[in-house]
Amino acid sequence: MKCHNSTKFACVKKGFFDVGRTVFYMKISSSQMFRNFNKWCLGTLTFLFLAGTFNAQAQGEDLFKAKCATCHQVFKDGTGPKLFEVRQKWESGGAIEGSIIQWVNDFDVAVAKDPYAASVAAWSTTSMSKFPDLTEEQIVSIFDWVDTQEEKSAVAAGPGGDANAQEEESSMGWVWMILGIVFVVIILAVGGVRRQLKSATAEASGEDFDEHMSYSEELKQWAWLNKRYVGVGALVVVMGGVVILFLGLYSINVMENYQPSQPIEFPHATHAGINGIDCKYCHNSVDKSRTAGLPTVNVCMNCHKQITGAGDQVAKIQKIYDAAGWDPTGAGKYTNETKEIVWNKVHVLPDHVYFNHSQHVVVGGVDCKQCHGDMATMTETAKVMSVEELNKVEGNIPLTKPTLTMGWCIECHQEKEVSLGTLDTKGDGYYNEIHKRLLNNDKSLYGQYLEDGKVTVKELGGWECAKCHY
Ligand code: HEC
Ligand code: HEC
Ligand code: HEC
Ligand code: HEC
Ligand code: HEC
Ligand code: HEC
Repeated sequence: MKCHNSTKFACVKKGFFDVGRTVFYMKISSSQMFRNFNKWCLGTLTFLFLAGTFNAQAQGEDLFKAKCATCHQVFKDGTGPKLFEVRQKWESGGAIEGSIIQWVNDFDVAVAKDPYAASVAAWSTTSMSKFPDLTEEQIVSIFDWVDTQEEKSAVAAGPGGDANAQEEESSMGWVWMILGIVFVVIILAVGGVRRQLKSATAEASGEDFDEHMSYSEELKQWAWLNKRYVGVGALVVVMGGVVILFLGLYSINVMENYQPSQPIEFPHATHAGINGIDCKYCHNSVDKSRTAGLPTVNVCMNCHKQITGAGDQVAKIQKIYDAAGWDPTGAGKYTNETKEIVWNKVHVLPDHVYFNHSQHVVVGGVDCKQCHGDMATMTETAKVMSVEELNKVEGNIPLTKPTLTMGWCIECHQEKEVSLGTLDTKGDGYYNEIHKRLLNNDKSLYGQYLEDGKVTVKELGGWECAKCHY
């Protein structure tokens, strides 16, 4: 043997790069390397091709959001018609090939040439913008992206905002997937090179190297030899998985901006704002029970027997009369033909979650504004405010997780100090009692709680699963 170096690796290294003296194993190695090189090239090309496809998709999505989303939705008619599978629609409607591309560039041109396009133009009195700068490829990428969307269930998606959030999340998913693939390719490539080195080493020292040992066999052998590292690695991967799962749960089923239509367009601004009616007048169980409660029609009638409204208010207020069975003509009288008002629920938590209003409003001293925004200025019907909107309200604790998700509850429980409750300001010693008990129970734990100067909801158990989950 030419090489007597005690560490095989150093020996190979020498042989490998010292071209002059080691023609022999350069020959095998380079031919093997080349064979594998081809394989890797093919792999990389496939990968680049796939990445390119994703990229075109991403381009379509960006263009759609930037240029079309103000008027078009994928599955619902808006200012413009829904765009899902619109190319098929044009084709089966007998449109001239390519006229749909022209339509997007300049609908007037398409209308002049294609009777089908002319029929589409009659869809509404609003006409579409012209996009002369978009290339055919870009327009196709928009339609491609639109056609790959999947319809979400009507309730979970809600209007606009949160559907976008979900789409954003899934496009992030692609990025991670691509990174993952790159990572695996690198690992395999490195593994391949290492294999070459090993076989060359074996060749050099005359040991036999099982060329045909499969990757998995080799991997098993390697794992066995490095049990400890593999163990630690596996633990890290599992823990990482758990963390990712939890972050996912925090934002599951995002409902921000959800604003269902209501049987009567009830404006909070007119009532709680201009007329200064207390929330509790209508939501009268909010400080006594789990639920805030909604007012019955009798509550409305307390005022609206007299307040018949003016202008376009009359028709809206008439709906209250229909529900109450009230005939406002003359002196007014009840007809006993009542009709129930069915308000659509705006804020909805899943059945497995326990939430209690009085605990928050009375015991915790949390203002309605913190969770529902400033309803006294709300001129439309109620909606689930996004955290961004909530953070703009003066006096609110700024939070980051989407409203009504588990992350939102938990984040506030981590931030919010318990000693700010209205019970405390009433001076009945509720929180003094809590502090005293904590001090007597475990002085050092109490010290830890107070390190940041406050005892938070979390520190009193506001992060325990069973507090919120049945
Ligand atoms: C200013 C609003 C507006 C914008 C922005 C807009 N559209 Fe339109 N679009 C319309 C309207 C309105 C129609 C229905 C035709 C009509 O009434 O003139 C329409 C029709 C269409 C149609 C035919 C639909 C069918 O059902 O046959 C396609 C395809 C289309 N638009 C694609 C696009 C694309 C792609 C974009 C973005 C690059 C876009 N539109 C941007 C308003 C708009
Ligand atoms: C005159 C009666 C009245 C007053 C006063 C009033 N509300 Fe309401 N509130 C209603 C009615 C009726 C609904 C149901 C219609 C809707 O959802 O828009 C409602 C709905 C709500 C909802 C959404 C309920 C759901 O389904 O999730 C919230 C939150 C709310 N009110 C908070 C407040 C707050 C906070 C105040 C005080 C600033 C207030 N309300 C004052 C009558 C009232
Ligand atoms: C404490 C008195 C009071 C109660 C209770 C009350 N309202 Fe009103 N409501 C008013 C006043 C005051 C106005 C404003 C009338 C005006 O602008 O002239 C009004 C206006 C309205 C309007 C017209 C708003 C607009 O500008 O479009 C609607 C709709 C309405 N109320 C629905 C309801 C419903 C539904 C209830 C019961 C859930 C209710 N109100 C309970 C006092 C009340
Ligand atoms: C800590 C956050 C928080 C505070 C503070 C809060 N709410 Fe709520 N509110 C919620 C959640 C969460 C729901 C959904 C409850 C469910 O689906 O079980 C809700 C639901 C409601 C509803 C719908 C009907 C019901 O009872 O479920 C009304 C009305 C309401 N809140 C009014 C109020 C009023 C008025 C106040 C202030 C006095 C208030 N809330 C304070 C979080 C809050
Ligand atoms: C804006 C801050 C805030 C948000 C958001 C919030 N909470 Fe709370 N929560 C509090 C405060 C403050 C208390 C402490 C009341 C007390 O001292 O017992 C509390 C207490 C609780 C408790 C009782 C804990 C115990 O130790 O007994 C439960 C259960 C609870 N919250 C559930 C929820 C759920 C479910 C949500 C989300 C839907 C939520 N909270 C959102 C502030 C918040
Ligand atoms: C402060 C209240 C709170 C605490 C503490 C809490 N959760 Fe939640 N959790 C929620 C709320 C609210 C939701 C519903 C979120 C949604 O609908 O988006 C939820 C949803 C979930 C879900 C998803 C179920 C679904 O809707 O698909 C799981 C699983 C879950 N929680 C597990 C846990 C576990 C495990 C713990 C303890 C480590 C825990 N939660 C502690 C409030 C809480």
